[in-house]
Amino acid sequence: MLHTLPNEYREASNEELSERIEAARAKLGDKLCILVHHYQRVEVIGFGDHVGDSYGLSKIAAEKKGASVILFCGVHFMAESADILTGPNQDVYLANPLAGCPMADMAEMADVMEAWECLKPFGADENIMPVSYMNTAAGLKAFTGRMGGVICTSSNADAAMDYALSRRDKVFFFPDENLGVNTGIKYGLKPEEMVIWDFSLEQGGLSREQIERARVILWKGHCHVHTNFTAEHVRQVREENPEVKILVHPECTPEVVQAADASGSTKFIVEYCEQAKPGSAIAIGTEINLINRMALEYPDKKIFELSGQTCPVCANMYRTTLNDLAFTLENYADLKPIRVSDKHRSDALLALEKMLELV
Ligand code: 13P
Ligand code: SF4
Repeated sequence: MLHTLPNEYREASNEELSERIEAARAKLGDKLCILVHHYQRVEVIGFGDHVGDSYGLSKIAAEKKGASVILFCGVHFMAESADILTGPNQDVYLANPLAGCPMADMAEMADVMEAWECLKPFGADENIMPVSYMNTAAGLKAFTGRMGGVICTSSNADAAMDYALSRRDKVFFFPDENLGVNTGIKYGLKPEEMVIWDFSLEQGGLSREQIERARVILWKGHCHVHTNFTAEHVRQVREENPEVKILVHPECTPEVVQAADASGSTKFIVEYCEQAKPGSAIAIGTEINLINRMALEYPDKKIFELSGQTCPVCANMYRTTLNDLAFTLENYADLKPIRVSDKHRSDALLALEKMLELV
């Protein structure tokens, strides 16, 4: 779909846009709920009725039964999840419909289905549980639900791994191999118990023995923002700031996570910054807009980005602007909401509801 804003929205100043957003919001009153992900631009964050991570925003979407218009400032898979979790009289609009997630795109439905077929001789239907990261398309969430699996976010990946491995022999985890390995290490798995399924190769590039021995089969996918950070960045920052605490998101590589002082979800990072003592030095390996906002909110703490060079911006999160908010709020009645097909809805809901129960 082509997403071109009319000139009147493209050319308006931020001041005018803010006034128009407030006016549209006042008109809609309680019918409207604006959900904003932590990685959004600081000016967009200011308009959030709720600001959160993907887990928190899903929970709010599921509870907001009174809002008939939900404006999601985030990326596509988050708005799809909100649509699945809301009722038939609620419409979810993605403020910028072009905002996707390249990691989610690394797991194509057809490739995952092909992998599942290959895993059938290893007992896929009974012995392997699909655990889908939230960053997937609705069709894969539905597959996960149909197979009795569960969805996780970085907030509850540990609980999801525990849930899955206490019920079945193996886990099929997609699409983020780094979150999968980091969670597997915390669970206590040995390196040989975690294998990477490379969908471009026959049988994922794995031997029969490797698959039989594995407890976790990981999709070969990653986030290009979080994999920018290296163990060398951690070493350099420690050398220059001996007092520093290093926090990273678990989409970073295992080498980075192991070298950091702590790793955790976006919510964990936000709470860590909130609770740190004044004067603390904190280097963070995650999306730059969140880091900059933490630095702005806590000027009495020295909060900075871990790499110092790579500018880890999620270009998709950054797509959403005040222009999009004004346009969507003034024209939502003529726009197409995000709508997951009936074919996927109920199975995906099963897996998402299970996700919300796991903390
Ligand atoms: P959260 O689940 O922490 O919101 O992260 C989503 C994401 O896309 C991180 O890159
Ligand atoms: Fe996707 Fe990475 Fe952006 Fe998160 S930061 S939305 S995983 S591309």
